[in-house]
Amino acid sequence: MQAAAVPVSTDDVPAAAAPRQRLAASPFVKWAGGKGQLLSQLDPFFPPDGTYHRYFEPFLGGGAVFFHLQPQRAVLSDLNEELINAYEVIRDHLDELLASLSRHQPTEEHYYFVRNLQPSELTKVRRASRFIYLNKWCYNGLYRVNSKGQFNVPRGRYKTPPRVFDPANLKSVSQLLQHAHIGVESYDSALSKAGPGDFVYLDPPYQPLSATANFTRYTKDSFEESDQVQLAQALHDLDRRGARFLLNNHDTLLLRRLYQGFNLSVATANRMINSRADRRGGVAELIVTNYPPPGEI
Ligand SMILES: C[S@@+](CC[C@H](N)C(=O)[O-])C[C@H]1O[C@@H](n2cnc3c(N)ncnc32)[C@H](O)[C@@H]1O
Repeated sequence: MQAAAVPVSTDDVPAAAAPRQRLAASPFVKWAGGKGQLLSQLDPFFPPDGTYHRYFEPFLGGGAVFFHLQPQRAVLSDLNEELINAYEVIRDHLDELLASLSRHQPTEEHYYFVRNLQPSELTKVRRASRFIYLNKWCYNGLYRVNSKGQFNVPRGRYKTPPRVFDPANLKSVSQLLQHAHIGVESYDSALSKAGPGDFVYLDPPYQPLSATANFTRYTKDSFEESDQVQLAQALHDLDRRGARFLLNNHDTLLLRRLYQGFNLSVATANRMINSRADRRGGVAELIVTNYPPPGEI
């Protein structure tokens, strides 16, 4: 016999905190290694919202995971000064930025005029506007600088002109950043601030799979094998301090060895950074956590 449905009394259920509204927000730059493609596979690995104190993302880039998780308290950092300046300007001077972005032109002359401007001689707002415009119109959304730190990526050839900015998205991004601490910082300095109860998501420059596939230059300093070793060391220290972390990288023998003893899982992602379409296939990704992966008790 089927039991009759009994109305559930809400009298003895403690009032839940008002649910936070999720915002439709996504990266405002195209970024090499952007995690948009891998999000659905990473998602089950993240600790549930509300189970950690602060969220740290020390290799921020386009911030796909931050926009996906929308944590209450975030500490966001990256070594790329132009990128971090753009985040700060979106948070603090959105209207001025929107006005400046709307003045850009889709022409080749304008691209090279803007590229030749010296960021250090511009206001914070114009500097962010230059960065976002160049990111959308440059070849493949690459960020590459010469030995003097000057951006030197040529203009891309686009059949459909790229959309430089989406005002509604930038508004949501600005709102989400209101409670975020943002800074230009090396990952090791950022990690030293994380402690018990914090959660750290790490998406470092990947260890190259071959000698020619070495896209590791997001800033004028490259991320070498010795940096991968130091990062693993820093994560062992972080683990001992009682923070949780999730790191993704290529699935290589070196990385498996460096993270031995933690939980290792494998996922595949379609990475788009290679300019040759035939080399853009699925690549195995290693997901490392210092807490049990989904499905394990
Ligand atoms: C793989 S990308 C992150 C991509 C990002 N998760 C996304 O969804 O777009 C790696 C980032 O690390 C930054 N980076 C490189 N070396 C660094 C270092 N030593 N400390 C902090 N950030 C660094 C680069 O500027 C780059 O933005």
